[in-house]
Amino acid sequence: MSQRRSLQGQWSSRFAFVLAATGSAIGLGSIWRFPFAVGENGGGTFVATYLAAVLCLGLPLMMAEVMLGRRGRRNPITTMTLLSEEEAGHRAWRWVGVLGVATGLLILSYYSVIAGWTLAYAVRLASGATLGVDAASAAGAFSALRSDPLEALLWHSAFLGAAAWVVGRGVVDGLERAVTVTMPLLVVLLVVLVAWAARHGDLERALAYLFEGDAARVDPPMVLAAFAQAFFTLSIGVGALMAYGAYLPATTRIGGASLTIVAANCFVSLLAGLTIFPLAFRHGIDPAQGEGLLFTTLPLAFVAMPGGRLFGTLFFLLLVLAALGSAIALLEPAVAWAVERRALVRPRAALAVAGLVWLLGIGSALSFNLLAGLSFGHGDLFDSVEFVTSRVLLPLSALSLSLFAGWVMCRGASNEELEVGIGSRYGAWRFAVRWLAPAALVGAGAAVLVGWLGG
Ligand code: TRP
Repeated sequence: MSQRRSLQGQWSSRFAFVLAATGSAIGLGSIWRFPFAVGENGGGTFVATYLAAVLCLGLPLMMAEVMLGRRGRRNPITTMTLLSEEEAGHRAWRWVGVLGVATGLLILSYYSVIAGWTLAYAVRLASGATLGVDAASAAGAFSALRSDPLEALLWHSAFLGAAAWVVGRGVVDGLERAVTVTMPLLVVLLVVLVAWAARHGDLERALAYLFEGDAARVDPPMVLAAFAQAFFTLSIGVGALMAYGAYLPATTRIGGASLTIVAANCFVSLLAGLTIFPLAFRHGIDPAQGEGLLFTTLPLAFVAMPGGRLFGTLFFLLLVLAALGSAIALLEPAVAWAVERRALVRPRAALAVAGLVWLLGIGSALSFNLLAGLSFGHGDLFDSVEFVTSRVLLPLSALSLSLFAGWVMCRGASNEELEVGIGSRYGAWRFAVRWLAPAALVGAGAAVLVGWLGG
């Protein structure tokens, strides 16, 4: 076990860590992004690929990241610098830390815009607004929100401000307390929604859509999208798990804790799918429409169910809180770095980092209105940032993590952190990190690149 101690306190228990990491994993990625990624990639085949990726790549990489974090006990950049010196004799691997931290901030810049929409929906439902009675009016309400630049900026700012405030309060006071209450309640509401959607939606078609795959539809872009969804939803590759690992008590078993987090996250994603698709099919909503899917489907349930206004408000509020759990994890690596390296006090560091993210996010917030005409290789600014982070930076970061943990770090060191008492499961971890993850990532990436150059 590494003898270093965290500079910023420690989780009070294993449970607190699992809760915080689950809070970072469960968020818009599982509830908003999963259904629309399924829709864009055609259903069951994607779901199966995604689940396989979560288990075979996501779980081992999560363990690797937490393990590196606990070994280094510093912010991700310093941790990777220290470990690089110890394990490789030079500092080059610190760039993995830098890549992660930068990717996290980029993700947060547009994540906050979506979370802002969620907040706006909560407030609108609370004030009694109808956000759609059929597919057309729901789409109308959603595009009215998106196309107002002032509103987009307002909600984006409100959400980021809240996240900065929580992070400013520190590991135990801020992070831990914020994630303890809301997660279970959100799951309960989702279960109720699934039951409602099963009765009033087209469940049969949704089940077929989600769970019937077709091996002929496996192609490299879809596989890469499934990897991206797996990393995104498990919060891998941005240093967040590394930062959280740095606060992990020395006695916690990383494998078991990771498995809990992964299972909880998949459960929530599937619940979200089972809510959204029955409703979408019943109302003739296109599952492949992209980032509006959640916002144009759920209001149709809330308008029709008894007590829907209250229920809908609560649901969107809890979703905002879930997004907050993710946002604070996305901020933490950069904030921890600023505190440890730049000697800023925590609240000031949180404010500075959030300010930077806020500036970056302006582009995404305006890309549905003022900047809507601006087009890059992959659509508007929002789409481009989303694409570059999830299809390029996250896979790259995951690849470098697996290479470092699997090949550069000496066996003894990773053994020690992972507490090898567990025998064969550990062998599987090593295989996944050394061979499976690099092969899968390089393979899918290369295939996409070849297709792209060829097409
Ligand atoms: N996992 C989060 C979600 O599903 C989003 C996310 C992606 C994230 N990468 C992260 C959160 C890194 C924290 C840290 O909503």
